[in-house]
Amino acid sequence: MPIHKVMVIGGGVMGRGISRLIAATGIGVLLMDLNQQIVKQSLESIEEEMDAEIKKWGLTKSEKKAILSRIKGATDLEQACDCNMLIEAIPEDLALKQELFKKLDKLCAEKAIMVTNTSTLSVTEIASVATHPEKIIGMHFLPPVTKVPVVEIVRGLKTAKNTFEIIKKFAEEQLNKTVVSVYEYPGYVTTRVIVPLLNEAMYVLMEGIASAEDIDTAMKLGYGFNVGPLALADMMGLDEVMSWMENLLKELSEHKYNPCPLLRKLVRAGHLGKKTGQGFFKYDEDGNKIEEAISFVKW
Ligand code: NAI
Repeated sequence: MPIHKVMVIGGGVMGRGISRLIAATGIGVLLMDLNQQIVKQSLESIEEEMDAEIKKWGLTKSEKKAILSRIKGATDLEQACDCNMLIEAIPEDLALKQELFKKLDKLCAEKAIMVTNTSTLSVTEIASVATHPEKIIGMHFLPPVTKVPVVEIVRGLKTAKNTFEIIKKFAEEQLNKTVVSVYEYPGYVTTRVIVPLLNEAMYVLMEGIASAEDIDTAMKLGYGFNVGPLALADMMGLDEVMSWMENLLKELSEHKYNPCPLLRKLVRAGHLGKKTGQGFFKYDEDGNKIEEAISFVKW
């Protein structure tokens, strides 16, 4: 089944990246969000992200033009009926995702494959509200979506073999990603392994052992990471990181998934990382790191 048009639902950090990735392969994308203003902001952010890459010679102006021409904004879910793949990237909340999949199932389950980008929730549980759970599957992309070469494909208990095969082929042959196939289990591979590391880095900062900058430098140079754990958490969105931890804690009852108090404090203050301009670091309008936002190191 060739994928000819995709609706991406949720124009945040992930939805924007997924839209751009798919549009770059020549497929038309409808980027849907709650209202016109958010959709407009999402499309502008995609453009700004590409402009920043053009400045660094990572993209050409004509590539940008071609990609943008294939992404259209939408606020009406009914437009999903024109698409044969729907990718959900709304916040990590089971009730919210179930409500959405119930609607999608009614609107277009007969002809479309429905994908969730959830990091920690059960695909089986999300699909339990649908009459066609065999058409629902998880595709766990990682940010920045256009650059990270891997995607986890997660089958729910009722996902059809055919759905899995179509998605695997799409990911490998059209999106050019390496596929890791995972059994449904909270956090899969990537979220499960990275989250305790991010949390520990936050404790190291809270306990005043080193500055945010030095913690990230130590991990980057010490272990060859491209990005330090605190900058990575800022890029992912601190609210998202906290909800993954809470879901993992609820599912696995392991103390190691208890969010660091500093993370809770930042989320409560609305400092959600790069997307709000402040988290462990401060960011300018182009998303470049400008300074450390919090430091407990006094020497
Ligand atoms: P975000 O908070 O940046 O964006 C979510 C977007 O969804 C917002 O624009 C919001 O207005 C929109 N939205 C909310 N309810 C909606 C609805 N009913 N219909 C349409 N749009 C709606 O979230 P982010 O970070 O993009 O995460 C989205 C999903 O991707 C979550 O499930 C998260 O766990 C997963 N994910 C996130 C990663 C990350 O690093 N941030 C990595 C991998 C997966």
